[in-house]
This record gives sequence, C-alpha cells and structure tokens, in this order.
Amino acid sequence: MAKLNAAVLSLCVVMALAFLAGQSAAGRYYPDKVQDKVRNEVEKAIARDRSIGPALVRLVFHDCWINGCDGSVLLDKTPTDGTNTEKKALNNIGLAGFEVIDTIKQKVGAGASCADIVAFAARDAADILSSGKIFYTIPGGRKDGVVSSAAVADANLPESTFDFGQLQNNFDARGFTVEELVVLSGAHSIGVAHLSSYQDRLGGADSTPIDPDYQAALNKVTPPSLLQKGQNPTVHNNARDETAEFQKDAAYNPVAMGVNPARIVLDNSYYPNNLVNKVLFKSDWVLRTDGFAASKLEEYKNNATEWNSDFADAMVKLSTLPAQGKNFEIRKNCRVTNQQNYY
Ligand code: HEM
Repeated sequence: MAKLNAAVLSLCVVMALAFLAGQSAAGRYYPDKVQDKVRNEVEKAIARDRSIGPALVRLVFHDCWINGCDGSVLLDKTPTDGTNTEKKALNNIGLAGFEVIDTIKQKVGAGASCADIVAFAARDAADILSSGKIFYTIPGGRKDGVVSSAAVADANLPESTFDFGQLQNNFDARGFTVEELVVLSGAHSIGVAHLSSYQDRLGGADSTPIDPDYQAALNKVTPPSLLQKGQNPTVHNNARDETAEFQKDAAYNPVAMGVNPARIVLDNSYYPNNLVNKVLFKSDWVLRTDGFAASKLEEYKNNATEWNSDFADAMVKLSTLPAQGKNFEIRKNCRVTNQQNYY
C-alpha cells in the first residue's frame, strides 16, 4: 500500500511539473505553441514597459475596425497605397506596439498571420492588465490583407469629438450595439492621449461638460497653448494613473470614489470617472447623453464582474470581425506585403 501511495504521489509530482512547465509567468497556459509564444513576448514587453499593454489593446480595435481583422494597421507600405497607410491616419495618432508585434512575428514565423498576432497580443495584454479578470479565448486563422489606406482609416475610425449619434452609427455599421459601445469605451481606463485629442474639452466654445477641477488640472499640465508651439504632450486617460499633484488639483480621490488606486489596471474605473465628468474625451462624456447608455454606465460602475465579462465578450466579437478584400496571405514581415503586385 505504501509503495502504491508513493507511486501515485510521484506521478502527481511529474504531472504537476509538466503542467507548470507549460505555464507562463502570469499563470496562463495555452496548449497551442503559437499562442504560448505570443503570450511570452507580451508578458516580457509589459514587464519592461507597462504602457505597451494599453497600446496593444488599442491596436486590435484599430486593426479590426478597418476592413476587419487583417493586420492592415501594421503596414508601412503596400502596392496600392504606397506609404500612405493606416498608420498615417490622423485618427491613429499615438498608435504603438508595432515593435512587439515584429518581435513576436520573428518568433512565430509562418505559424501565425500578423492579424492573429495582433488579436492574441491584445487578448494577453487585457488579461495581464486586469490580473486575469478579463480573459477570453479566440480562434486563430485570420489572414493578412494587402491594402491599408490612411484615408479609409480616417473616414471609419470614431473620433474623440463625435457626438452620441455619430458613435452609435459608427458602431452600428459594424454590427455593434450601444451596450457594446459603452462596454468597449471602458478600455479608456488605461492608456494615454495627446492634447490634440481632448483640447476641445479645455475651454472655449466647443467644450462639453467636464468637472472644473479636472479641467483645471488638465489645463495646468497640458495648456492648449502648447499646440501653437508645436508641442502635443500626453496625459493618462484615467486620472487614477496621474501624479498625486494632478489628483489633488483635479479633486480626484480614487479610494473615496470606490476606485482601486493601482495604476494602469484595466478595470471598470472608467464608469465612476465618467459619472462625475472626469473623463478625457467628448466621445466618453456623450455616453451620458443617451438614456440607455447612461443606465449602462451606472450598471458597469456598480458591477465590476459584469463589466469584466461583457468586455471580454465584446473583445471576442471585435477580434473576430471578418476581413474584407480579395487578396490575402500570411505576411513574412508584418510591415510590408509579400508581393510587389496583386492581380
Ligand atoms: C468609442 C469610440 C472611441 C474613440 C472616439 C476613441 C478615441 C481614442 C483617442 C482619441 C485616444 C487617444 C489617442 C491619442 O491622442 O494618442 C484613444 C486611446 C485609447 N483607446 Fe480609444 N477610442 C474609442 C474606442 C476604443 C475602443 C473600442 C478601445 C479598445 C477596445 C479603445 C482603446 C484605447 C486605448 C487602450 C487607448 C490608449 C492607448 C495607449 O495608451 O497607447 N478605444 N482612444
């Protein structure tokens, strides 16, 4: 009996070791080698610089929103668009994370399309930045497109100055509901924005309601006059991620608001912030102007678990938007198409 117990015990140890060997540092395990490699690189990149996480979450939105998930946002050059690709679109200001995608591509080679890498990397970033509270599985098999136009991206990406109707139409055109608009906007609990993206909120005729203390804090760190001097600095989308001085100026006390004060965490803190007019963009604030959207803001403020789960579902839908076009490939280099011409 003792012998049997010892044998069972050693078998358990062997199985546990085998399981742990396939586990990433953050504890997520993928049976699929490609996804495991993506995971590893995303973990390393975020450990080096946490701001890469928000960049990767935004990247999948900007890729999949334009012609579906086809890696078109990564292209520096195409046969039809020259160098005037999506990256050059004004609405793609601040887009980042391209080097991480390149590194992953070097590791996985022909094992995954660039579009798959973008989708998997965003999924892993969301998981890591939420400490495992936002996790979803998505299939691979996306193909890389061969067109990428700055003009098309500017005509189709939602803008920070959009009103509610414009946002609703933009999302509806891709089959996304108002609820999903509210859910996905919660991604603005992380990351940064350039002054030019919220200058309309810092005073003047076009400004929409914004908390006066928050507005004063923004005006102090990023006065709009800097734009005239050719400077376009950034602030964090979430006052929670700003300095103690900024928070004091903005009369923003995360703990008093029931917000977890830990920085760069993907969570439902966007909702309490929005409900006290302490969000950056007009496109965030306008969600308060629609009765249903406003009720969802309240709901997600009060129910973090529901938001985590609805956000994961909406990210699956976003990451599986079918690619449109006629020529596809598995790109060798995510920045350029494989061929000079496609007929
Ligand atoms: C609803 C319409 C949306 C509008 C109008 C919008 C607009 C913007 C703007 C203007 C910025 C700052 C760009 C800059 O100035 O550098 C930004 C940043 C960001 N957005 Fe959105 N966005 C929208 C939806 C989304 C969605 C659906 C996601 C993801 C699911 C997302 C994720 C992010 C993230 C993570 C950042 C920070 C990126 C970084 O720090 O690198 N946004 N967004």
